[in-house]
Amino acid sequence: MPDLFSPLRIGRYQLRNRIFLAPLTRMRAGSGNVPEEMNLRYYVQRACAGMIITEATQVCLQGQGYPNTPGIHSPEQIAGWRKVTRAVHEEGGTIFLQLWHVGRISHRSFQPGGALPVAPSALQPMRSNLSGPSLRKEALGFETPRALELDEIPSVVAAFREGAENAIEAGFDGVEVHGANGYLLEQFLNDRSNIRTDRYGGSIENRARLLLEVTEAVCGAVGPDRVGVRLSPGGDVNGSADSNPEALHTHVIQALGNIGPAYLHLIEPRAGGDRKWEAGHRERPSIARRFRPLFGGPLVAAGGYVLATAQATVAAGEADAIAFGRHFIANPDLPRRFELGAPLNPYDRSTFYGGAEKGYTDYPSLQREGDTS
Ligand code: FNR
Repeated sequence: MPDLFSPLRIGRYQLRNRIFLAPLTRMRAGSGNVPEEMNLRYYVQRACAGMIITEATQVCLQGQGYPNTPGIHSPEQIAGWRKVTRAVHEEGGTIFLQLWHVGRISHRSFQPGGALPVAPSALQPMRSNLSGPSLRKEALGFETPRALELDEIPSVVAAFREGAENAIEAGFDGVEVHGANGYLLEQFLNDRSNIRTDRYGGSIENRARLLLEVTEAVCGAVGPDRVGVRLSPGGDVNGSADSNPEALHTHVIQALGNIGPAYLHLIEPRAGGDRKWEAGHRERPSIARRFRPLFGGPLVAAGGYVLATAQATVAAGEADAIAFGRHFIANPDLPRRFELGAPLNPYDRSTFYGGAEKGYTDYPSLQREGDTS
């Protein structure tokens, strides 16, 4: 029976455990949105993960929505990331880059030439429920985005493909397509944010088209064995939700299964509210269980997991690996702590987004035997 500490094959990689670092926006990139020394230290501290999935990283200027988020579209960004991947590899880690386009979750101040953010449809986002960045967003005020023209859509697909190629050039082991949490690709999926009447809107098949085209393009560019896709079925982060998430995701996940990326990554919705998430699910969550049979390949689950629920989910074969977000922020040696049953450092929400080393690289690891410091 597999457990969290057993190795796992994902695509062309043999991973040392099934405890993944979830993609986590920390808003601490340097000028030009280039990863720097401090970011390298953060990832190296967490190289013990079975797989690191980096923070969401914009594939083009238009894809940015928050300050100090890294990009993967300039030579300086590629060079900055190369130092990170080299250092993680020296520690024996495996690292995938999460490819991001925020769509309407942006503001003119981030857009080239001060233009409006783009989206499937000219619909203003509703209040975000991501507490940190949303506070800033509310201070700036939401804008009504501009609907992408049909003939602009190939450039979005191309931006993801180029982002994937740049990631490989920067030494990443692979990439994860960010199709979750109310950003551009999920804005296309969900009927609350997509009211287009062309071949990218209307039916489920049409709304799924962009995500599938992006996945195909990225798989074609770097090989499906180096690609993952992240989805949040039933979620409503950033005000993007669907009236029939079950039918939508049945179609999307079956279609992804046919394309055959190396893994599918699903986020459990915050059903039951944040408090249930904070406490960890009392019962095993169900999204992974529900959709797993439709995909075929390895499944990564995330969202409110604690050691016990993660172990039970992997042991039951409902997911192959579990990605941890907030606990991995506060515990750089999370796999070791889990293995020893050691207590966890509590996380400090006030330092999630932006700032410097505090709440980023200064969470303590357990002392190892023989340590004198
Ligand atoms: C996130 N999450 C997230 N998801 C994603 O796909 N890309 C990202 O860049 C981010 N950024 C991010 C930042 C911070 C500070 C948090 C807390 C969360 C969601 C994250 O990957 C994960 O799905 C959730 O945190 C739920 O997992 P935990 O924290 O309950 O283990």
